[in-house]
Amino acid sequence: MCGITGYIGDNKTTDILVDGLKRLEYRGYDSCGIAVVDGKNSLYLKRVSGRVDALDKLVTAEPVKGAQAGVGHTRWATHGAPSEDNAHPHTDCTGQVVVVHNGIIENYLDLKEKLQAGGHKFKSETDTEVIAHLMEEKLKSLHVQEKSARAEMIEPVFFEAFRRTVADLKGSFALSMVWSRCPAMLLAARMHSPLVVGLGKGENFIASDVSAFLKYTKRVVFLNDGEMAAVKKDGIDFYTFAGKKTAKESVTIQWDSTMAEKGGYKHFMLKEIHEQAEAVENTLRGRLLPLGGNLLETEMGLTAATMKGVSALQFIACGTAYHACLVGRVLFENFGIPAHADVASEFTDRAKLMNKGTLVVAISQSGETADTLFAVREAKAAGAKVLAITNTVGSTLTREADHVLYTHCGPEIGVASTKAFLGQLAAIYLLAGHFAAARGALSSAEARRYAEELLKIPRLIEETLEKETEIAKAAEAFAASEHFLFISRHINYPIALEGALKIKEISYVHAEGYAAGEMKHGPIAIIYKGMPLLAVAPTGRTLELMAGNIEEAKARGADVVAIVDAASKKTIKASRYIILPETGELFTPMLTVIPLQLFAYYVALAKKCDIDKPRNLAKSVTVR
Ligand code: G6P
Repeated sequence: MCGITGYIGDNKTTDILVDGLKRLEYRGYDSCGIAVVDGKNSLYLKRVSGRVDALDKLVTAEPVKGAQAGVGHTRWATHGAPSEDNAHPHTDCTGQVVVVHNGIIENYLDLKEKLQAGGHKFKSETDTEVIAHLMEEKLKSLHVQEKSARAEMIEPVFFEAFRRTVADLKGSFALSMVWSRCPAMLLAARMHSPLVVGLGKGENFIASDVSAFLKYTKRVVFLNDGEMAAVKKDGIDFYTFAGKKTAKESVTIQWDSTMAEKGGYKHFMLKEIHEQAEAVENTLRGRLLPLGGNLLETEMGLTAATMKGVSALQFIACGTAYHACLVGRVLFENFGIPAHADVASEFTDRAKLMNKGTLVVAISQSGETADTLFAVREAKAAGAKVLAITNTVGSTLTREADHVLYTHCGPEIGVASTKAFLGQLAAIYLLAGHFAAARGALSSAEARRYAEELLKIPRLIEETLEKETEIAKAAEAFAASEHFLFISRHINYPIALEGALKIKEISYVHAEGYAAGEMKHGPIAIIYKGMPLLAVAPTGRTLELMAGNIEEAKARGADVVAIVDAASKKTIKASRYIILPETGELFTPMLTVIPLQLFAYYVALAKKCDIDKPRNLAKSVTVR
């Protein structure tokens, strides 16, 4: 978490840094700051506790002229409360060295004790500040006291001191550093935390994520763990932590910066909910067997023989992506293919059970979630092959996986994931179709029908979105409630979990998702008169059982909103219905989740919550 920006060049440094931070606010937003240097070795530090808008106001009120390089940071607190003192950038005792950091320095207490014993005075409670003081020590040890030292002498010293500083750090970090005595160079390093540089003309950029600078350049280089970059306005050199120069390839990002703007919607979340048909269409395009050739196999390098040889699939992910995993498990099991699903942070001992026959499917919108990456490494160490399903080209996950299946959802900015989830589901349905066809679980005629059904989903999503007004009304009717229950069964049980998660994330109310059959084993006790219960009950094998569970809940006072289709509505008795278009039973999750996303959105809207930036959350969680 935390967003880092860096800029060097002749454009308006402060504006570029602040604008980049606004685009990275999804990574954290409890405090922020920038530090810039001018050509006269002066350093200006501006920090605020709160959002980037407040920083923007401060920078506008007190502009810095002549800045030619700088770094910025938007924070999601780990060590130390969100406050101005704990906001990045952090400085050393001289106020000349400035650092921004994402990650956790695990040995910071050791380092801090030693530095304090050596006379260093700390101004914050953060782990990050040790880096600035450590750098001060390394610079001292390289004897660059004379103010008159020339640039060609200063740059190697800055680099070497940085290299030595990085060598002393344990943990995860993406760092960027400025030294006021060396305004012609920014330094950056990466270990277990994403960092990318953008290549401009006469200017260059550093960021946690490309969206920070896409407006200026689409040509980027992703740093790997153990790599550093020396960024000047006319060029960038890359090094290993040992100081060995290394050649890196640049890639061109296809996303457009306007794709990450609101386009008339009140919130990114609502815009992204409305982009779901397109997200699914883009993810399916040209990849469907038997209709579209074998593009999927060529892309991923997953041959029919490999698919036949897999003994079991193991899905892992966090948050919303985990709910996609649960849908995947049911879908694969439906085709007789053994599948398991675990949250990445609880994969611990199961990782040891992986073997060559297991295909681990790691799902992550960002491709940077620390728990997911850690689980992937454990699974690989045990001998499993890893397939990544991700939305982010060049992310760490894509570089560590053996096979990659991209979702093509475009940038997702709202912290509560919506269209990325639909993209993940579309990718899972593609994968399951290919596996089932390769293993003979679907005949060629059935595979064709499966593909045809899947291709209809984007249109059915559009139809589902037409129910927005009704869903908004239902949400407004229940907006004052402090408790919500979501129930379903089989392939829609994960959708009940997702519905509850969405409302928790953006409305801060208590919500539970339950397997409907489990209700009678405990949760039914919490039902009181008028409690909102959202029941996902499309036509399918569990409909009769669902109808029974809904009656049991109603008998205890639940006020039921039923997510049904025209046929299942006949079996379900509820006080409100959201009627969805019909599709094959297995495909229903791609429709049933939409009313729940919209329901959560409108409850949060009625409660005047900060929908795109919910409290305490961050979009990309790069700490374990
Ligand atoms: C965070 C986000 C969630 C997301 C989860 C996994 O918690 O707030 O919306 O589902 O991380 O993120 P990933 O990028 O791995 O899909």
